[in-house]
Amino acid sequence: KQKIAVMTSGGDSPGMNAAVRAVVRTGIYYGCDMYAVYEGYKGLLEGGDLLKPISWKDVRGFLSEGGTLIGTARCMEFKERWGRKQAAKNLIERGINALVVCGGDGSLTGADLFRHEWPSLVKELVEQDQSFTPEQVEPYKNLTIVGLVGSIDNDMSGTDSTIGAYSALERIVEMVDYIDATAKSHSRAFVVEVMGRHCGWLALMAGIATGADYIFIPERPPKKDQWQAELKEVCQRHREKGRRNNTVIVAEGAIDDELNPITSEDVKKVLVEIGLDTRVTILGHVQRGGTAVAHDRWLATLQGVDAVKAVLENTPSTPSPLIGINENKIIRMPLVESVKLTKSVAENIENKHFDKAIALRDSEFID
Ligand code: F6P
Repeated sequence: KQKIAVMTSGGDSPGMNAAVRAVVRTGIYYGCDMYAVYEGYKGLLEGGDLLKPISWKDVRGFLSEGGTLIGTARCMEFKERWGRKQAAKNLIERGINALVVCGGDGSLTGADLFRHEWPSLVKELVEQDQSFTPEQVEPYKNLTIVGLVGSIDNDMSGTDSTIGAYSALERIVEMVDYIDATAKSHSRAFVVEVMGRHCGWLALMAGIATGADYIFIPERPPKKDQWQAELKEVCQRHREKGRRNNTVIVAEGAIDDELNPITSEDVKKVLVEIGLDTRVTILGHVQRGGTAVAHDRWLATLQGVDAVKAVLENTPSTPSPLIGINENKIIRMPLVESVKLTKSVAENIENKHFDKAIALRDSEFID
């Protein structure tokens, strides 16, 4: 009987619970024994109560809960080989050789490395540590890894949206609407800083959805000495047309074309120079909390179902799949390739190849 473990890792995102629920229930539907890993990779390492069976009813009510109910944590020990060996031991002791990981690119890279090392870790556990006999490990010669992308940043190449991104976007838009009301009352300008790490998707989409005056994103950096004048001109023009407030959205990773960070305080200074009564609001973790919007619930559910199917169809020679979505269809992409592409987006931005970065972020894996 196949035993599958599910875990969440990295920063939490709305919809992770829906993903866990779908994986657990689909696994049970197909006759598998399901396990939950609590507290991310820490749970794999420590085992005990952090790595235990999870049942159909344990995930009841998960769809409408924010965050991740099985927990997540940053785990330095998993970055060490001895830590991964300990994790392999814990899994084999329970008869588990398939892992569905919902997390960002860092967590998924860690998972794939674990899969690659798995045969040698098992060998060491038998030959050096004598934790198992060769017969005991016979059914656990390979580890199957399937990735689900849980991140509010929507920064993974090859997939249209990541689990949690639309929920964070919704939260941002709601907050900007609130800010606009007070801004209009006082004829003020607001600089709103949003999350996204090195990705401008949240800022761009929120800016479009709220009709912001100006948006700063890392992928389209403005010229170092020109953005100030342009920003002033745009905001003044909108005022002249009768607008009573200004909204500028700044992605937390915003930079100019010389790669200098553009902070919300930098933007505020420029607006103050044209006499605008300006305030800065850094939205922070409200963007990550709260319940998932419908999009993230169905995305996580359909992807969770496919993740289990991918486990059951996997062979030792299949590369680890990452479940994505493209043109409203759930797709499978090679995990390593997607992560590599995502990393090269950042590298291209660092090398000032901004158009190439955008093209890579949009690239697809369609056969
Ligand atoms: O990756 C998700 C994210 O919320 C980013 O947008 C942000 O830069 C980062 O995590 C914040 O991390 P932490 O919660 O560890 O401060």
